[in-house]
Amino acid sequence: MLEFTPVHKHLLAVGLAAGAALLLLPQGGSGNVANGALLFDHDFHAADGLGTPEMNADSCRACHQDPVVGGAGSIELNVTRFGNDNGGAGPFTNLPGGQGLSKLRIMTMHGREEYPTGSPLPADIFEQRQPPSLLGLGLVDSISGPVITANEDPTDANQDGIFGVARRLTVNGGQEIGRFGWKAQIPRLADFVDDAMANELGLTTPDNGRGFALPSDGDGVADPELSASQVADLAAYLGSLPPPERGGSTDPRVAQGEALFTSVGCAVCHIPTLMGSTGPVPLYSNLLLHDLMPSTYRGMAEPGAAAGYFRTPPLWGIAHTAPYMHDGRAEDLRGAIAMHGGEAAGVRANYQALTASDQDALILFLEDL
Ligand code: HEC
Ligand code: HEC
Repeated sequence: MLEFTPVHKHLLAVGLAAGAALLLLPQGGSGNVANGALLFDHDFHAADGLGTPEMNADSCRACHQDPVVGGAGSIELNVTRFGNDNGGAGPFTNLPGGQGLSKLRIMTMHGREEYPTGSPLPADIFEQRQPPSLLGLGLVDSISGPVITANEDPTDANQDGIFGVARRLTVNGGQEIGRFGWKAQIPRLADFVDDAMANELGLTTPDNGRGFALPSDGDGVADPELSASQVADLAAYLGSLPPPERGGSTDPRVAQGEALFTSVGCAVCHIPTLMGSTGPVPLYSNLLLHDLMPSTYRGMAEPGAAAGYFRTPPLWGIAHTAPYMHDGRAEDLRGAIAMHGGEAAGVRANYQALTASDQDALILFLEDL
């Protein structure tokens, strides 16, 4: 199992960046933040059990580093998921081994998308996913399920064309609300550590009964390749990352843009604050799933999150995390707004009806978040 020597320059950087905000964050779990920072920044090797034998990268930091370690990733760091949707006719089927497509594999190996072992079906549908920023996720973890479900509108009772449903997940026989991932497929921050270790790095973590860990992978390195306390350290590190700081511009157009953000309807989904365990969390999201896609859209489907349904992404720090949307197909903020169809088509039309200078003000506001 991997062990660290105590001295590492990253410790200092994390201490400085997180210092002030740490005190304000909810105290979750028992992990050691400094050790978690080292693990997040660590380049793993085959001797540590990296890859199963497939993987997407050799460290967490590799994909989460804009504008600081723990941040977002650029377009070339996208990961890919695949499955079969019967040429678009449906239903969507997971192929053996799951949706994750591995970027890095031994040259002589065929990819699962090419010849999915034991599957009567070929892969015929692919979806890209952008690495989001992880800043402030400890606060998102502290938002309770009832706070999230309070904003659901599954029958569009208020007839604004916008629905919004929480992601319901069955974990250990009970129901939990999803908070993390583009389809809100993961309920807790600590669960994402297990999920990312398995799917991005091909590293095994102990089975804690919640179903997100890969407990063994048969690569010859003793399982689990990371200990329960190392998983807790990583979760503590993620939980300690301070939320992005507001720009704080005093330009009157920023305040004007903020008012327009609400009046055109962006704030229906991108709710400015949700209440967390230690106070309001200014994330600009309702953490609910919405369908912004045309009815012809083909993509990954999961129980409780059909193709085209994605979680409203938080907008804090958005100026620093281009490109945008789940697959990164929007290069800038104006492009992201232009891609709001489906449930958000009416709101997009409201935005497009604004004068050019009002649109500029709304963008200035987004850039200040
Ligand atoms: C190959 C690139 C890559 C690597 C390596 C990677 N991630 Fe990610 N990460 C992503 C992508 C892409 C997503 C969005 C996935 C999705 O929702 O389908 C993501 C999402 C997340 C989220 C949820 C963010 C949110 O806003 O909901 C967390 C937490 C996270 N990663 C932690 C980690 C940790 C911890 C590691 C190391 C064990 C790691 N990631 C390694 C690409 C990566
Ligand atoms: C019906 C709910 C809804 C409304 C209304 C809405 N959005 Fe969104 N927004 C979403 C969802 C869902 C996504 C993610 C879609 C995807 O990834 O395919 C998103 C994505 C974004 C993104 C990209 C975020 C990222 O990290 O990639 C930006 C920026 C954004 N919205 C801004 C706005 C603005 C500005 C408005 C108002 C003009 C608005 N949204 C209205 C639900 C909404």
